[in-house]
Amino acid sequence: MSITFSEEARCFHLKSRDTSYVIEVIRDRYLVPAYWGSRLSAWNNPSAAPNVERSFSPSVDPEDRTFSLDVLPQEFPSYGAGDFRAPAIQIQQEDGSTITELLYRSHRILPGKPPLEGLPSVYAESDNEAETLQITLVDELIGLEAVLAYTTFRDFDAITRSVTLRNNGRKRLRVLRLLSASYDFSRADLQMLHLSGAWARECHIFRKSLSPGTSSLESRRGASSHQHNPFVALVSPSTDEDTGEVWAMNLVYSGNFLAQAEVDQSGSTRLGIGINPFEFSWDLEPGSTFQSPEAVLIHSNEGLSGMSRRFHSLYRSRLCRGRFRDAERPILINNWEATYFNFDEKRILDLAAEASALGMELLVLDDGWFGQRDDDRSSLGDWTVNSRKLPGGLEALARAVNQKGLAFGLWFEPEMVSVRSQLYEEHPDWCLHVPGRRRSESRGQLVLDLGRKEVREYVVHAVSSILRSVPISYVKWDMNRHHTEVGSAALPPERQKETSHRYILGLYEVLQRITTEFSDVLIEGCSGGGGRFDPGMLAFMPQIWTSDNTDAVSRLRVQYGTSIVYPPVTMGAHVSAVPNHQTKRVTTLAFRAEVAMAGTLGYELDPGKLPVEEKAQIARQVDHYKRIRGLVQFGDFYRLQSPFTGDTAAWMFVSPDRSKAWVSFYQVRFEANQRLPLVRLKGLDPLARYAMCGTNRSFGGDELMEAGVRVTGIDGDFQSRSWLFERVGKFS
Ligand code: DGJ
Repeated sequence: MSITFSEEARCFHLKSRDTSYVIEVIRDRYLVPAYWGSRLSAWNNPSAAPNVERSFSPSVDPEDRTFSLDVLPQEFPSYGAGDFRAPAIQIQQEDGSTITELLYRSHRILPGKPPLEGLPSVYAESDNEAETLQITLVDELIGLEAVLAYTTFRDFDAITRSVTLRNNGRKRLRVLRLLSASYDFSRADLQMLHLSGAWARECHIFRKSLSPGTSSLESRRGASSHQHNPFVALVSPSTDEDTGEVWAMNLVYSGNFLAQAEVDQSGSTRLGIGINPFEFSWDLEPGSTFQSPEAVLIHSNEGLSGMSRRFHSLYRSRLCRGRFRDAERPILINNWEATYFNFDEKRILDLAAEASALGMELLVLDDGWFGQRDDDRSSLGDWTVNSRKLPGGLEALARAVNQKGLAFGLWFEPEMVSVRSQLYEEHPDWCLHVPGRRRSESRGQLVLDLGRKEVREYVVHAVSSILRSVPISYVKWDMNRHHTEVGSAALPPERQKETSHRYILGLYEVLQRITTEFSDVLIEGCSGGGGRFDPGMLAFMPQIWTSDNTDAVSRLRVQYGTSIVYPPVTMGAHVSAVPNHQTKRVTTLAFRAEVAMAGTLGYELDPGKLPVEEKAQIARQVDHYKRIRGLVQFGDFYRLQSPFTGDTAAWMFVSPDRSKAWVSFYQVRFEANQRLPLVRLKGLDPLARYAMCGTNRSFGGDELMEAGVRVTGIDGDFQSRSWLFERVGKFS
């Protein structure tokens, strides 16, 4: 890792483990992105292109018609002074004009990585594992300063970027658009890869060729959303899972975002990511600052698989925090699909007893334990126990669960208020709303305005007082609707467009306070499944419920797609009953478990309703998962066969020292007289000998990777096979 500035060449060369990123300072004023790719020993600009005059491309300098911002690559493009492509920043001034021209002023290079004010970010544990470059750009006319921050890492192949704006002028400025990162590629043949979907169908993988014009992904829902993940990658046309180049951006943010790629007239492509400018503005008073979220930039020359492993290792150890960052996650039983709202103390304790007998470690009491909540129409906001269902109270229940050998976990949906609730009766103005307009309900609930201090205090108090008085070691933090009638009673008219971002800042403040006081509590994020599966949430909660769809076949795609960016340990994955509640599909218990074991395993069914043989099977699964859990949760992940392209799927986990591997293969749709499937492994030591556990056979790592493992005995739909390999020596 290093960041250098060459006075002579006027260029910054940022090096992370295997990546170089080069920015040139042209004419002492303009920041130009020169290179982002595999690590280089030095930069002498072999690919420099001469400036040429182009009609309709205005020049900066009347004496030199070839120098135009319209064709010059820009590191941080602004609007209105010659570059017609999508800007990273647009600022409105008091006179109504919206032009900015930010020019290089100075820079400094610091050890370590400063945190971002009010926003989650990737961190460095010590100053010697990261280095940060801060480049100051200034628009003198309006007194605007933009500090572009870049961090490189010793042990990770990532570069993070963010921007801090400061109004040094005497007049108010209005930020209309501020992306966290923008990069101009001098090629137009790239393809865009993204993760999109819907509720119960999150993170499906899409790839398309770019063509002239703009391709964008965005959320206007108040949350990062099920529909689009705040991730975008550009890939070379020939890039595949294991080979070829990838340039990816992922935004550490949980609200409205924009990711866009624009192919321009002269064959370059501008990629950018940041807060969605749609319905956003922020007033910057003189002397005040505005911090953008962080963008994580990953380059891989080992295809998508290399990109994913780079994200995974960074996020596992320098985004996730708290005791559970490095600790194996408990195998849980969740009562949601077992009981829905229909439970009482006895039912929960019976579930706990069954789960404990099968070796599970944590019981999670889901929705319905508070207020008058017998369905999803009431009581959010009234966080006091429902004494009809739980007359002994939460504490007694938690202790009784503990006595059965399980830790106790509890569901909350703290960001919401039900229209039928005491809280709403008392504070009808605490929700997002626009006076005089209808308040659109979703699940009978409205969204609390977390931009307001008193609302944040209420939420922190409500959750913390329960966490203080009940022995709770896990929280499921749910969020089940998107934002409508976005407006805040606490903001003046000219600041209404700040509401969505203020909500997210408020949410992060609430999470920061709760996770600081209760750092030993494992929090699993959830937004109707993966509606907020993003790095912003992962910074506070190292686990997220991947999808409300618990069907194993659907889950293959959701988990495979989610793994493009996020590590398997962050994916909550449960075995549920059949017919599946979302798809009505019937799959074998073994198939369901082998899919769920590729994430953080849990069960969401009533074992008491299963035949004895299935209970015994679950006990064996739990036992097996405990054996492979370290490998799955902290090993390197390799995708082997995609459920998006055929009737099979396969993936594997390899321990960091390559001594162990767990491989699983899934046959989704079986064809009569089909060829016997073959799985070629990856990531092993080619010279090592691996025992196939449970058999008396062993194979060379090279054989397993080159020739592959033949899958036998598959004779129907929804069957799976898995193998554990352990290194037993070397081939000489
Ligand atoms: C949505 C979640 O994704 C489910 O797992 C469950 O917790 C329900 N909410 C409860 O209302």
